[in-house]
Amino acid sequence: MIRDLILKNRSYRRFDESVVIDESTLRELVDLARCSASGANRQGLKFILSWTPEKNASVFPCLRWAGYLKDWAGPAEGERPTGYIIVLGDTSVSKTFGVDHGIACQSMLLGAAEKGFGGCMFGSVRRDELRKRLGISEQYEILLVLALGKPVEQVVIDEVGADGDIKYWRDEQAVHHVPKRALDDLIL
Ligand SMILES: Cc1cc2nc3c(=O)[nH]c(=O)nc-3n(C[C@H](O)[C@H](O)[C@H](O)COP(=O)(O)O)c2cc1C
Repeated sequence: MIRDLILKNRSYRRFDESVVIDESTLRELVDLARCSASGANRQGLKFILSWTPEKNASVFPCLRWAGYLKDWAGPAEGERPTGYIIVLGDTSVSKTFGVDHGIACQSMLLGAAEKGFGGCMFGSVRRDELRKRLGISEQYEILLVLALGKPVEQVVIDEVGADGDIKYWRDEQAVHHVPKRALDDLIL
């Protein structure tokens, strides 16, 4: 059921680092992005895969984790992603990429969830640093980064309270709460 898969597909930021996501799984996820919608069918996205400990260690410090969790600097060693997909826009194909990268990331995250993996897409990226570390040429715009692994955290959806606060938060048991607005508040 698509609803079950979408509910399972939360943004996960803590992983069991002993369960590695391998190259072939990452390639299967990119193939889902390949088959997804693209504005004017331009297909201007390109992808860099990372699954080795060395390359993963290079990508990790370039991501800004969970801006609302002020006292959390990101996952500790042992709970870090075991793979990344860096989503690039190839400017030799198109100068703008519309919402293609969002669609691609959602397809890949749903695919990951179906396989028992999970992750989080990152728009808040130290792009210059990542470009330097991975040797990404100016031909490519860094659009989003997908961090992936075997989730270990529990994430629950709550309804936004009367105060209207949409910030996600963690309780004493480290359960991650994500307030979502009510359906009737979305449909005009
Ligand atoms: C376009 C986009 C960019 C995001 N960038 C970041 C990011 O830089 N860092 C982060 O920790 N989470 C990031 N997220 C994850 C959101 O915080 C997350 O989707 C939101 O809290 C709702 O949680 P949910 O995905 O479990 O529904 C991003 C999500 C989207 C859609």
